[in-house]
Amino acid sequence: MSSETMRAATARRYGGPEVMAIETLPRPVAGPGQLLIRTAAFGVTRGDARIRGLDVPRGMGGLMRLIFGLTRPRRPIQGREFAGVVAALGDGVTGWTVGDAVMGITPGMRLSAGAEYCTMPADGRLTRRPDTLTPEEAAGYFFGLLTAADFLLDQAKLQPDERVLINGASGAVGIAAVWLAKHLGAQVTAVCSPANHDFARRFGADLTADYARPLPAGPFDVVLDVAGTLPYSRAKPLLADGGRLALITADLKGQLGANLRPRRGTHQLLAGVTKETPAALTRALAFHAQGYRPPITALPLTDIQQAHLHASTGHKHGNVVVTL
Ligand SMILES: NC(=O)c1ccc[n+]([C@@H]2O[C@H](COP(=O)([O-])OP(=O)(O)OC[C@H]3O[C@@H](n4cnc5c(N)ncnc54)[C@H](OP(=O)(O)O)[C@@H]3O)[C@@H](O)[C@H]2O)c1
Repeated sequence: MSSETMRAATARRYGGPEVMAIETLPRPVAGPGQLLIRTAAFGVTRGDARIRGLDVPRGMGGLMRLIFGLTRPRRPIQGREFAGVVAALGDGVTGWTVGDAVMGITPGMRLSAGAEYCTMPADGRLTRRPDTLTPEEAAGYFFGLLTAADFLLDQAKLQPDERVLINGASGAVGIAAVWLAKHLGAQVTAVCSPANHDFARRFGADLTADYARPLPAGPFDVVLDVAGTLPYSRAKPLLADGGRLALITADLKGQLGANLRPRRGTHQLLAGVTKETPAALTRALAFHAQGYRPPITALPLTDIQQAHLHASTGHKHGNVVVTL
């Protein structure tokens, strides 16, 4: 491989994990205000799997095509979350040095983190990696925790001692939500398959339940539907007076319903897209100083299809990252 090329994980068409390929492509160059990052690891999230396969909740496919490419992916290099080191600075970049250990998430829907090199604007979505996080942990850090914090703290305004049910508690978002809710002092009921109940308990769940059986009656002050299987019609009997239902995986009907008619009696419906602001990243990293470490399964780049297969199942154990 020449010093001007790199290996990248690409998808040239929408489809299953088999569309993922490893290509040799030109290395990007840091433009003005950008940094070139030598990537050590990148995340393969449920979100990445959804983009690759256009496998999205009902009614959202058209919007995804508009964002990512009508007939095929506009940007073939996949991946959003990464950890690495600064390899070069573009014109006008201050405050960073070549060799700095960094982690971050590519802005908006730009993708491109799944390669040996990527460029990033020098804004707050690029942060320094604490020594206490490995590159693999750093590459799987933000997706789940940012989402859990956005829905639990900012939207549902979860309070200490409140009762929260987390439906889909052992994947990237759910396990972060279990930790965060417990850390806040809430009473946490984690719903996932029995094989993952010990895992959820290790992250702080007080009670566990199996989604294949009737759910605990509650009542719950907050129901966090990570898995997308608890629309209001199913969640309503579980909610306490004043209860909030946070729909992390809502189809178009659920999104519109929550936005147009958020109040249902004393209940509140919440939905939307996770905010990835610099302030949100700073807050998420502060939770590491308070004890949060994301659970990681790491695979080499040669297993990129395997990583996508795992991320597509809807039964992922924490986070999957690919190392370079
Ligand atoms: N709104 C947003 O901005 C936003 C942001 C990030 C993610 N999301 C969405 O959040 C969802 C979860 O992401 P993730 O990365 O946490 O996924 P994941 O890692 O694949 O985890 C899925 C979780 O759901 C559980 N599960 C599977 N089938 C279930 C069922 N029938 N009932 C209840 N739980 C079930 C799994 O448990 P077992 O493995 O034990 O079966 C696992 O705990 C995805 O749909 C993703 O698109 C939305």
